[in-house]
Amino acid sequence: MVQSAVRTPLPAQRLAGVASSPVRDLLALVDRPEVISFAGGLPAPELFDLDGLRAAFDRVLGSADGRRHLQYAPTEGNPALRALVAARMTARGLSTAAADLLVTTGSQQGLTLIAAALLDPGSVVAVEEPTYLAALQCFQLAGCRIVTVPSDDAGLERALREHQPKLLYLVPNFANPTGRTLTAGRRAGIAALTAAHGVWVVEDDPYGELRYRGEPVPALASQPGAEEHVLHLGSFSKIAAPGLRLGWVRTPPALRPALTVAKQAADLHTSTIDQAAAAAWLAHTDLDAHLANLRDAYAQRRDAMMAAMPETAPAGSTWTDPDGGMFTWLRLPGPVDTASLLPAALAGDVAFVPGAPFYAGRPDHATLRLSFTTHTPGEITEGMRRLGPVLRTPAC
Ligand SMILES: Cc1ncc(COP(=O)(O)O)c(C=O)c1O
Repeated sequence: MVQSAVRTPLPAQRLAGVASSPVRDLLALVDRPEVISFAGGLPAPELFDLDGLRAAFDRVLGSADGRRHLQYAPTEGNPALRALVAARMTARGLSTAAADLLVTTGSQQGLTLIAAALLDPGSVVAVEEPTYLAALQCFQLAGCRIVTVPSDDAGLERALREHQPKLLYLVPNFANPTGRTLTAGRRAGIAALTAAHGVWVVEDDPYGELRYRGEPVPALASQPGAEEHVLHLGSFSKIAAPGLRLGWVRTPPALRPALTVAKQAADLHTSTIDQAAAAAWLAHTDLDAHLANLRDAYAQRRDAMMAAMPETAPAGSTWTDPDGGMFTWLRLPGPVDTASLLPAALAGDVAFVPGAPFYAGRPDHATLRLSFTTHTPGEITEGMRRLGPVLRTPAC
């Protein structure tokens, strides 16, 4: 065999600082039927509207213009789907026209497209601490410098003045990973401060429809003065099914052309047939009834996890009590690194996600995220029973 001294080039430099997602890596480890996993943010598959979705695909493929739904299509997205999503957003209090929306391949692609359209290597992006892991990956891949902002108006104003970020990324409803929700007052303050400092805002809202108690809080994008600088991301992943990979960006007009070019370069357009089926599903499903069903089931799962928490978490722990969404965020007392507890948890057939990767800055290793949507209340109670002895292992 002839040996060549020529090496193929290394992967791009921009990947150097971007770690693989521990959540996605964990999904492979917990894929055993005996494991009760609180790790992945997985919706409950038994609550997917399988019959409704199958009927929607049948309807579009069986229609007279079924072949059109297998053809290339406009980059901005299926007009019927955009109109239906816009109507729902408007009904929920965020006035939206179909033309304001770009359909994306999951809301995750919305983040990628925003990064491509707005951010240069070295651009400063501000985030809450902790925040959604794959948003951090996305901004790191774009070569951005990530800074964290305090959770009060005075702290935010200081951070905006000091770091002059180009973009602020927030998950205002039932955040991933903390489950926390920003109050109406905070949203108004953020909209006004970012407008005054000329900062783009991304309001990432995959969980907003999953509220189990209390009143909905108006979207950041609906605050006075938000029209020109707040982008809003939505998703079918938690209200229909994540495997559809369908989401959307509501964008101010100034950014529409740049986002459309970024989308063209990424994938030309989102799957034609999936968009058409989603439009048919929305048009023929009682979405409010479907969501009421989801909320009812998830509220019981949330309650089961909260009820088990005092017995499960060691004395001195703190945890969030989310009004909606999929997650609670737990902090153990003492100098513990929750990553070191994971092998024992997996050996005991239960899983969680250690908190450190959700931090852009200095991580709090004593934190962890638990998701309560994937399993039934009975399974959650059993999973928490398995988790208790692991979390109560004394720190070494
Ligand atoms: C805050 C946040 N944004 C975006 C996403 C990505 O969702 P999608 O499935 O729509 O790409 C998730 C998924 O868990 C999320 O938690």
